[in-house]
Amino acid sequence: MSSFEKSKTTLGLEMATDPRWVNIAEKSIEFILTDHAWCEQKAAVHGISIISKFSKFPKIVEVISPIVAEEWGHFRKVVKELKSRGFELGHQRKDEYVNQLNNFIRKGDHVHKQIVEYLLSFAMIEARSCERFRLLSIHIQDPQLKKFYHDFMVSEAGHYKAFINLAKEFGSEEYVMNRWDEFIEFEAEMVKKIEVRGDRMH
Ligand SMILES: [Fe+2]
Ligand SMILES: [Fe+2]
Repeated sequence: MSSFEKSKTTLGLEMATDPRWVNIAEKSIEFILTDHAWCEQKAAVHGISIISKFSKFPKIVEVISPIVAEEWGHFRKVVKELKSRGFELGHQRKDEYVNQLNNFIRKGDHVHKQIVEYLLSFAMIEARSCERFRLLSIHIQDPQLKKFYHDFMVSEAGHYKAFINLAKEFGSEEYVMNRWDEFIEFEAEMVKKIEVRGDRMH
């Protein structure tokens, strides 16, 4: 299937995911839920690691700590959903999306710029997740899962905004938004090349 169409979509992303992805995803819901759970686990770990790395900046600690708690709550929620459907948390897979995005981050810059890089990469993951949750909430058949994904969409959109706003504490509005445009462009090219599968969120 052609997985993307070029159009401005949720949160300004360049490439919209083909909604037919949802049909495939719904048929392999055990694997989608497992992958989703691990995405939440990674979001929590990323938050903890940026706090550890940049603990001397009170704003980082203040804004990211509650997000970590929420991401861990999300992990638990998804594991509970798996259990209620008679499934167990499966294995974590190699996350090509996150790995490629990490490679795009500029390393060794001034500390403030480095923080902006991390925060924009987190915002990017939130934005794409949010786009996929939205599709699931609209197109999935199961009414309970519709609500489940809608709630995730709302929560991750809040995280996206929080990361972008926090980035602006460490770089000018102009610098952050220009760099964000570069992230958007890179991500659009990246998702075109990554195979969209019914057992993966990204
Ligand atoms: Fe989350
Ligand atoms: Fe999030």
